[in-house]
Amino acid sequence: MKALVLSGGAGTRLRPITHTSAKQLVPVANKPVLFYGLESIAAAGITDVGIIVGDTAEEIRAAVGDGSRFGLTVTYIPQHAPLGLAHAVLIAREFLGEDDFVMYLGDNFVVGGITDLVDEFRAARPDAQILLTKVPDPRSFGVAELDADGRVARLEEKPAHPKSDLALVGVYLFTPAVHEAVRAITPSARGELEITHALQWLIDRRLKVSSTVISGYWKDTGNVEDMLEVNRSVLELLTPGHEGSVDDATEIIGRVRIGRGATVRGSRIVGPAIIGPRTVVENSYIGPSTSIAENCRVTDSEIEYSIVLSGSSLHGVGRIEASLIGRDVEITPAPPTPAAHRLVLGDHSKVQISA
Ligand code: DAU
Repeated sequence: MKALVLSGGAGTRLRPITHTSAKQLVPVANKPVLFYGLESIAAAGITDVGIIVGDTAEEIRAAVGDGSRFGLTVTYIPQHAPLGLAHAVLIAREFLGEDDFVMYLGDNFVVGGITDLVDEFRAARPDAQILLTKVPDPRSFGVAELDADGRVARLEEKPAHPKSDLALVGVYLFTPAVHEAVRAITPSARGELEITHALQWLIDRRLKVSSTVISGYWKDTGNVEDMLEVNRSVLELLTPGHEGSVDDATEIIGRVRIGRGATVRGSRIVGPAIIGPRTVVENSYIGPSTSIAENCRVTDSEIEYSIVLSGSSLHGVGRIEASLIGRDVEITPAPPTPAAHRLVLGDHSKVQISA
């Protein structure tokens, strides 16, 4: 069995982490979301992985390399434009050959991995298998309708009026039967070859498409609350370890991981929390559910339930909570409000000054 990982797509910037162009590299507990997918694939016993890359190919290649550190052999498959998930299958035809495969969307995060699903698929071997999860607003997902026996009856891509709350998760298991389907379908209204349509094509021809409903799923949507929450849940399982230097005036409580070359002085860190390599924390408080990436500086500050990306600094700021701070950001105290305003205003100006 092989894996096809989709890490293409246009280089549109993910809000609100505006400096991250490849959305698959958004970090969760200081690790790109894509890496969790690759680790799940390796854990399921799959080693041969094709990665679809687009505009952000260089960034993805630099991060993943040849895959050996995940125990994988990676083949990069360039896609000249993001023409759809089924288009990705179409261009991967030679790589996939006649093997069954798992298709994994690189911006999806499945808590608990995919080993059980892959085992289930290998044992029952339906023509295709999809994963579903209940979401509060399914309109930005593929949506499945099940029949009375729980079989997949209909699939719709991003319907305005969803018929169920069961969203398609970005992990699909396929036999080679999918190749005929992706060749048969035509582009959707948004101009993409939709994998949802290929699956519907299989269902319409009475091929067996099974489904499994899971919980513990996240897809990067640029939604800060969701991202903090997935970061929190991953940190709960953190293996503690201190590879940096921690002085005697520092107190560390609970699960805390301190990366290589990091320095912590005169601070209090309450886990679960992760401090990246070469980051300096001085005279500060780092609270639970916080990920601070590499090469950051946190001095005379307090931060909790937050994510800070690489190269950022917080200096002399009071309490920061429930925040997402991008790369190379500087946060410092605001200068004190002046006692008087000095103005040079042109004729007819209208100015509002806070009292
Ligand atoms: O995440 C689950 C959803 O993924 C499903 O519920 C939908 O049915 C499915 O169509 C898909 O929806 P999106 O439109 O949100 O997919 P997105 O454009 O975000 O692409 C998913 C991943 O695949 C992302 O990592 C980029 C990559 N991709 C996407 C396209 C369209 C490619 O590598 N090539 C492509 O052509």
